[in-house]
Amino acid sequence: MVKTMTTRLKLRDSVKLIKNFKTTGTITPSSNRLAERLLGSIDFSETLVIAELGPGNGCITRTILQRMNKDSVLICFEVNDDFASELRTIADPRLRVYNSCASSIQGILNELEILEVDHIVSSLPLAMIDDALIENILSSAKSNLKEGGRFLQYQYSLANYGDIKPFFSDIKLKFTLRNMPPAFVYDCLK
Ligand SMILES: C[S@@+](CC[C@H](N)C(=O)[O-])C[C@H]1O[C@@H](n2cnc3c(N)ncnc32)[C@H](O)[C@@H]1O
Repeated sequence: MVKTMTTRLKLRDSVKLIKNFKTTGTITPSSNRLAERLLGSIDFSETLVIAELGPGNGCITRTILQRMNKDSVLICFEVNDDFASELRTIADPRLRVYNSCASSIQGILNELEILEVDHIVSSLPLAMIDDALIENILSSAKSNLKEGGRFLQYQYSLANYGDIKPFFSDIKLKFTLRNMPPAFVYDCLK
């Protein structure tokens, strides 16, 4: 019964991702294994401010919320109106959802009177985003990340490695086959 419901939910998520393929760049939500690879280097025992870029239907968001302590804060930036509305149904006082482009991180942190974030987790489909916007997003991500913080991004190829490298010199590459499609993770230290 539970399994049937989970399968139905996954199918519904996939339909939304496919309908919005131009901006999501994927057809299936991330697997637990990919979430583990992406978030594995974050020390969740600390009180954290995390920014999530391109959370989509909230598959990674929910995992972050499960791991964060009660005083931590998660700020999500999602351009798609439907996904942003869906994320707002997650009843968790630690979660702030902005229906905004990831490039607006500076303005929103100013609004929230937050100086910098501890980590940035990104599911942005970099391969579908134009170069100028990628540069804008990565530059504002880096300048709003604390020293020693991590920028964590997954991608289905290494196509954008060259875009990330100038911003983060210390990049660990990870890979998992246990995702559909298999994915790379860039674990970048500031
Ligand atoms: C791959 S999907 C995320 C799926 C989900 N996080 C997961 O791992 O299953 C990428 C998301 O990035 C969003 N997105 C694309 N460009 C964006 C931008 N410039 N700013 C914020 N979100 C963006 C898309 O609307 C989409 O929901």
